[in-house]
Amino acid sequence: DDTSKVDIIKKHISSYPDFPKKGIIFRDLFSILREPSVFALLKEILINRVKSNFPNVECIAALDSRGFLLGPLIALDLQLPFVPIRKRGKLPGKVISEEYSLEYGKDVFEIQQESITQGEKVLLVDDLLATGGSLRASCKLIEKCEAVVVGCLVVIEIQALKGAEKVDAPLHSIIKY
Ligand code: PRP
Ligand code: MG
Repeated sequence: DDTSKVDIIKKHISSYPDFPKKGIIFRDLFSILREPSVFALLKEILINRVKSNFPNVECIAALDSRGFLLGPLIALDLQLPFVPIRKRGKLPGKVISEEYSLEYGKDVFEIQQESITQGEKVLLVDDLLATGGSLRASCKLIEKCEAVVVGCLVVIEIQALKGAEKVDAPLHSIIKY
């Protein structure tokens, strides 16, 4: 049981009311990264959660940009490939795309076609689940690659926004608000 470790992580997540706009409380992962011992604890928790919840994972994919702070830590430790899902126009070569909705307008996530093999078991990693739009689009992207999403792992879940309902894969969050 890692409850006491999770409590330490929670204490080190800074909250900023009314950012980026009124009514939203911004939960900031960077306040954890400022403290190496706390970041190390988070790394340990993430790796253990992957081992116990997604033991058959073959590939770690994370979301541009804050997911990139976490995904490679897990991938390297478990000796799995790491694959980035990036916002449009950043990845070279053949890419597969999926549109997703933002509050105003839309954006596109892309993945390099060569980075995923057919049938590969992929775990999606991100810092935070809010409306679920980002992870939902990422799940679709992995499916377009004919690979399999074994689950989604986030550090923080904002439960009031009901993002979990939008994600069509087992979701695991470490801290819920
Ligand atoms: C934030 C956060 C998640 C996403 C969650 O990323 O890092 O990726 O929003 O929101 P959703 O569940 O409503 O889709 P953002 O798009 O702000 O970009 P960043 O990671 O580059 O900061
Ligand atoms: Mg993000």
